[in-house]
Amino acid sequence: MDKILIKGGRPLLGAVEISGAKNAALPALAATLLTEDPIVLHNVPCVRDIQTTGQMLRDLGCETDFRTLESTHSCKVLARNVTSCEAPYELVKTMRASVLVLGPLLARFGRARVSLPGGCAIGARPIDLHIKAFEKLGADITIEHGYVEARADRLKGTEIFFDRITVTGTENLMMAAVLAEGDTVLNNAAREPEVSDLANLLCSMGATIRGAGSSTIHIQGAARLHGAQHTIIPDRIETGTFLAAGAITGGDVEIRSCRADHLLAVIEKLEEAGVVVERATPSVLRVSAPHGLKARDVITAEHPGFATDMQAQYMALMTQAEGTSIVTETIFENRFMHASEMVRMGANIKIEGNRAIVFGKTQLTGAKVIASDLRASASLVLAGLVAHGETFIGRVYHLDRGYERIEEKLKGLGADIERVR
Ligand code: EPU
Repeated sequence: MDKILIKGGRPLLGAVEISGAKNAALPALAATLLTEDPIVLHNVPCVRDIQTTGQMLRDLGCETDFRTLESTHSCKVLARNVTSCEAPYELVKTMRASVLVLGPLLARFGRARVSLPGGCAIGARPIDLHIKAFEKLGADITIEHGYVEARADRLKGTEIFFDRITVTGTENLMMAAVLAEGDTVLNNAAREPEVSDLANLLCSMGATIRGAGSSTIHIQGAARLHGAQHTIIPDRIETGTFLAAGAITGGDVEIRSCRADHLLAVIEKLEEAGVVVERATPSVLRVSAPHGLKARDVITAEHPGFATDMQAQYMALMTQAEGTSIVTETIFENRFMHASEMVRMGANIKIEGNRAIVFGKTQLTGAKVIASDLRASASLVLAGLVAHGETFIGRVYHLDRGYERIEEKLKGLGADIERVR
């Protein structure tokens, strides 16, 4: 199995291009199931989860063209002859986001059978809120043999209140409601930029959606949607990860093709911590930390708050900050697995419930570490970049699920990093 080997201690210098957002491309690919016309997506990141979704769409009977994804970052899906409405356990267990096909399949074909995802490394992550909301739209849902089976002749628009904010739940319901009869209002909806990006794609397909990006989304149902082309937004978490990489190594990095307005809370927190983030243009940021890092507390929150997907990377940064900081995780109940690996590298971190207390600054030393999930892997890469000596990061497949060629991008900035088999 692949490993990443990093020899730490080099400041990152130069420019890096940000890829399209994985978490926007995944729902966009699911949305292709809503029409019998072709959908062409641009700026799609060439990462494992996207390839897995391509395979899932083919298993459902879609024709896909992902041949030039790696070079052009474009792909095409034609969901004209869908032959199956099932996302099997074998697939969902490798990628929870496959539950995003529930809404589109149910809305267009009146039937969907999707394996329940079960827990994962960062928390229990149930989909009860998706299910409850589909029922409100008139779907008949049974849960048997580990599968959710949903049926409906035609979904009927209604008013939905989410008990708590859910990103893929909001996306799933938005995709179901666009083909429902009548109007739907989603209250306490997720405000993440990925939700707005999906709404933009759906509107290009002929849907009528107002309020995406706010907590109340109005959707007017339509009888059918048509084909479209759409460009995926830049990945705000990859952007944040490179901001942290530039800062933690004391480097000077220009981050191109990003959207600063999608990660304002992260930028502001980094600035509080002494990082200099220059907004060169709306799509170019320049990061450095010429005066070192200061400890600053952070609390994760739904967008527009500080993203849970940046919590692990921020913790790595705080190990190099002067003073004590408290990192509080409010979205997932078990998202501190990276802390114990950082401790093995010399960090001084104490976990108390959903708070991690980071005592800085500590000199990290390279070690063999194992990543538990995508963002945890990224945080260990950051730790490895400042550690003395060699860091081996195992289970690199987590990184490959969501970061496009991360070692090549870091190498381009001068990091001593390579993939070893
Ligand atoms: N929740 C429920 N019931 C539900 C749905 C969610 O209790 O039916 C809970 C979850 O267990 C969690 C909280 O609500 O505690 C928020 O979960 P949410 O549904 O918003 O998460 P998600 O949609 O499963 C997406 C991203 C995650 C990101 C979270 C939070 C995608 C494909 N995934 O997950 O991304 O951490 O939102 O922002 O968009 C990643 O990219 O590494 C990643 C994990």
